[in-house]
Amino acid sequence: WSTTARKADGVLEVGGVSLAALVAEHGSPAYVLDEDDFRARARAFRDAFAAYDVYYAGKAFLCTAAARWIAEEGLSLDVCSGGELTVAERAGVDPARIGFHGNNKTPAELRRAVRLGVGRIIVDSFVEIERLAAIVAELGATAGVMVRVTAGVEAHTHEYIATAHEDQKFGFSITNGQAFDAVRAVLDAPGLELLGLHSHIGSQIFDSSGFEVAARRVLALHARISTELGVTMPEMDLGGGFGIAYTTQDDPSDPSQLATEMSKIVEHECRALGIPEPRLSIEPGRAIVGPAMCTVYEVGTVKKVALDGGAVRTYVSVDGGMSDNIRTALYDADYSCTLASRHSDAPAVLTRVVGKHCEAGDIVVKDEFLPGDVAEGDLLAVPGTGAYCRSMASNYNHALRPPVIAVRDGVARIVVRRETEDDLLATDVGDVS
Ligand code: LLP
Repeated sequence: WSTTARKADGVLEVGGVSLAALVAEHGSPAYVLDEDDFRARARAFRDAFAAYDVYYAGKAFLCTAAARWIAEEGLSLDVCSGGELTVAERAGVDPARIGFHGNNKTPAELRRAVRLGVGRIIVDSFVEIERLAAIVAELGATAGVMVRVTAGVEAHTHEYIATAHEDQKFGFSITNGQAFDAVRAVLDAPGLELLGLHSHIGSQIFDSSGFEVAARRVLALHARISTELGVTMPEMDLGGGFGIAYTTQDDPSDPSQLATEMSKIVEHECRALGIPEPRLSIEPGRAIVGPAMCTVYEVGTVKKVALDGGAVRTYVSVDGGMSDNIRTALYDADYSCTLASRHSDAPAVLTRVVGKHCEAGDIVVKDEFLPGDVAEGDLLAVPGTGAYCRSMASNYNHALRPPVIAVRDGVARIVVRRETEDDLLATDVGDVS
């Protein structure tokens, strides 16, 4: 939130644009994307990992403009569906700089990726290796392939977003030998070019020891493949997952520190194993876009609820909720928020900011101290909503998904427009009686 400031009247400004003026023009709720901040974070990863390829993980947030900015800043792009591939194509991203993920890519998606010349397809099952081999044979093409492996690491993050332990759906296990067999299967398939191994241990991780252990295990397999199969793979990807600060209690990942630590481990291990260093790549999503966006909501109703023991909690309802940010309900995620439309001297009270959806778990911010006079018409800004909020947004309760408005140098531009009721009705075929 590097370009955020508060004006004398207490109104919050992002990228030189007043959030009050932005809502007056575009309505609420709205995601506000700070373009300079987004680009600066992308550049910080690119520069810190100058010897690596940095793939921005589009699943965190993707739209045509963002894909273009990523390419302009010299990053590559990780996509994980036909839909994301469509956006990348539309943005003019060089297919050679796209990595294609997914544990169940359809034959149609794979065929499209091969035809397009996507630079790397990260394979995730034996079935997929067979499928892909058949597709390249049918098209008379070739495809660059990485093999996604499971490093057997218990990443310290929410269970649903940890991906390197054994009992989950992603990757080939190193421990039980499947990763080695998958590499052999790729080598045996004419038309598949083995680029290297891929490991992603999870998301929102702060403790770098998980990355270290994973890097060691993946490099050990890399070395074994080199000695036993006589194949030197040119690349290796260590995934994304770098944690960001959602509240003041979190200590965000620092790209240059991460780069130094990772490079040191890889250098040391490769020397010990007597192998040349593969070209490394990483896939940050959240750490680039997460802090670059906030959501601005308008307050509707305010209610005081008596708690056991006589305390009172203030419930402030806003005009969005779990349809634009499912992360609190899904992962028990913590967010903070601030009054964005005016100054208030009222004493702070413990507040829960909730949405307008029909369930009690529809919470935007679990606990925040907000001025006690917050009332209908006030605007609240929730920072750090760039990653996995718009991209996981839904039409629950037939909500209209909010727009994404990019701000920079005092100018606001819509990059994703607000949905309309016509958009909702467009997929509902109507009376079929
Ligand atoms: N690479 C791969 C293969 C991934 O699966 C992911 C995230 C990333 C990179 C990027 O991870 P990041 O740097 O953004 O942490 N919806 C969840 C997060 C799911 C992450 C899925 N994969 C959330 O809201 O926390």
